[in-house]
Amino acid sequence: MKGGVGKTSVTANLAAVLAEDAEANDIAVLNLDPQNSLHMHFGLGIALEEGVACQTDAEGDWSELAFPTPYNVINLPYGEVSERQRKAFEACLGTYPDWIETRIRQLGLPEDGILLIDTPPGPSLYLRQALACADVVVMVALADASSYATIPAMESWLSNMETHATLDNCVLVLNQLEPGNKLNTDIAKALANSYGERMLPYGIPRDDEISLAFAFQQPLSHYSPDNPALEVFRQIADCLPLD
Ligand SMILES: Nc1ncnc2c1ncn2[C@@H]1O[C@H](COP(=O)(O)OP(=O)(O)OP(=O)(O)O)[C@@H](O)[C@H]1O
Ligand SMILES: [Mg+2]
Repeated sequence: MKGGVGKTSVTANLAAVLAEDAEANDIAVLNLDPQNSLHMHFGLGIALEEGVACQTDAEGDWSELAFPTPYNVINLPYGEVSERQRKAFEACLGTYPDWIETRIRQLGLPEDGILLIDTPPGPSLYLRQALACADVVVMVALADASSYATIPAMESWLSNMETHATLDNCVLVLNQLEPGNKLNTDIAKALANSYGERMLPYGIPRDDEISLAFAFQQPLSHYSPDNPALEVFRQIADCLPLD
């Protein structure tokens, strides 16, 4: 929910590790961020025009907007839209609180499937729509003073918006941890004290290969299959409160 902390990178790389052992069509990602970049982690090009924001027809469905990728992760991109189109899409989201949920249901994803939704930073109609249908909420934060100061605001967005998930299913994941960085360690400890089991015991390290994988438009698991951060993504995927 906070800006620039790695929400999109975490979404993409978690989806890719979840897809490693998954059946075809079981893992999908939905981008609700007008920055329209999630699909780039999966080699779908820079300016992908089509996407969910292009559709403002109440009768429409997303079946033609679900792009398969070589990484076993289906992508529902935001789309490259004009200012006018973005406003029209946001008007739909404002008018119909279940706009996103309805279209997800119509897609008919497999019963055991997992759809990861990426949202823009801050409170927004996009966050509201995602929270209305998500079974699990993953808050990504850095172990720095700025995230520490912002987490209470993120918590209040969660409690003020209608969330489908219970508090037990909202977890905090720390990203970009640097071994030996005392501020990181101290803030991680303080957060663990406040959030207890809601803070996952696995933090994602800061690693240039995570940025490089994105630059090469691949998930980390394909760009650098031996990177130790992958094990962390797998551990996080394993302990998400999905049931
Ligand atoms: N663990 C990491 N190690 C190194 N670089 C990282 C890591 N996680 C993310 N990054 C880099 O940090 C930058 C921001 O990441 P990303 O776009 O995923 O953040 P975001 O939270 O989605 O941003 P926004 O709020 O704009 O949506 C990118 O350049 C990304 O490659
Ligand atoms: Mg992002």
